[in-house]
Amino acid sequence: MLRILGIESSCDETAAAVIEVAPEGQRRILSSSVASQLDIHAKYGGVVPELASREHLRAIVPVVREAMAGLQFSELDAIAATQGPGLVGSLLVGLTYAKALCFTHKLPLIGVHHLDGHIEAALLDAPRRDYPLLALVASGGHTHLFACLANGQYHLQGRTRDDAAGEAYDKVAKLLGFGYPGGPVIDALAPYGDPKTVRFTSPKMGGNAQDFSFSGLKTAVLRWYEASGTENEVAARKELLRHTPRPAVEQWLSATSEKTLGVLASFQRTVIAELLNRATAAAEKINAKAMLISGGVAANRGLRAEAEQRRFPFPVYFPEPKWSTDNAVMIALAGARRFAGGHRDGLTLRASANLSL
Ligand code: KG4
Ligand code: ZN
Repeated sequence: MLRILGIESSCDETAAAVIEVAPEGQRRILSSSVASQLDIHAKYGGVVPELASREHLRAIVPVVREAMAGLQFSELDAIAATQGPGLVGSLLVGLTYAKALCFTHKLPLIGVHHLDGHIEAALLDAPRRDYPLLALVASGGHTHLFACLANGQYHLQGRTRDDAAGEAYDKVAKLLGFGYPGGPVIDALAPYGDPKTVRFTSPKMGGNAQDFSFSGLKTAVLRWYEASGTENEVAARKELLRHTPRPAVEQWLSATSEKTLGVLASFQRTVIAELLNRATAAAEKINAKAMLISGGVAANRGLRAEAEQRRFPFPVYFPEPKWSTDNAVMIALAGARRFAGGHRDGLTLRASANLSL
């Protein structure tokens, strides 16, 4: 039996989790603790790196203590921590604490790539791993397509040339007065709008057809807004946010016109089509036997429904919604796979903001 503590601090969640892997490979989550900084960054409409590092410092000890409740460090086999990519000040807090724990308790350290974690989260409940596997990771910082030819071996097929899909959600939400993060709100409101309200076009790009681009879509929403005459409702929503940090759907609906709901639905439909069309093309190119969709945007209900409707000729795996956004279970899972494969890192391992997979 393998027991691993995972630590994640790459962006705005401080997280720790313990998982157990049976000799036959079954994986069990023993604990998961996440301290979210959303309410702190919401005021600024996005993550403020300096505030993020400070909050990680505040949260890391209690979060790890909560994840370790009832367990001794001597019952662990290793500690896995996110090495990158991410905000370097944030990464350093989790990685340095992991190193200190490894040093104190004489445990091996396993550095984990954040996207390896997102990918493992989607495979947690997969009955089998069929290769080649096409992985789409779409979050606030990444929109990447990888071909996975064997356990833990990834080959980049395409990536966003500008904004990440989650970033587009966050920027559109900020523009229209829906606060931060934008994905969950737009996802909740999109079903109330007519997706045919605005016809956003797919970006015309030369080069790799599996690359994404979302900045044109964001600009198209900005142009729509400038001509829409909806300044007053945007101001009203910002006012609502000042009084109510996390408004309920009914509250948003009463502060949102039909045309704004329409633009949200149109925006969401376009993002989903972009993600799934390019993932489908990449899957065909590599003759994929399975697909997985992970990262914060994989929590999107519209995306899940559309992926199901498309009836792909292979299984499509999503993580449970709670393991879609940043968490430490995913880091422990990827760390356990690396540990079992013989990987060990020294205490000189450095955090890397731009680590590639
Ligand atoms: O994976 P994650 O927690 O952090 C990063 O690694 O970036 O992803 C956060 C991103 C944010 O941009 C957020 O707006 C987006 O995921 N997100 C969503 C949904 N839930 C979170 N986007 C679309 N629909 C959602 N339901
Ligand atoms: Zn992430």
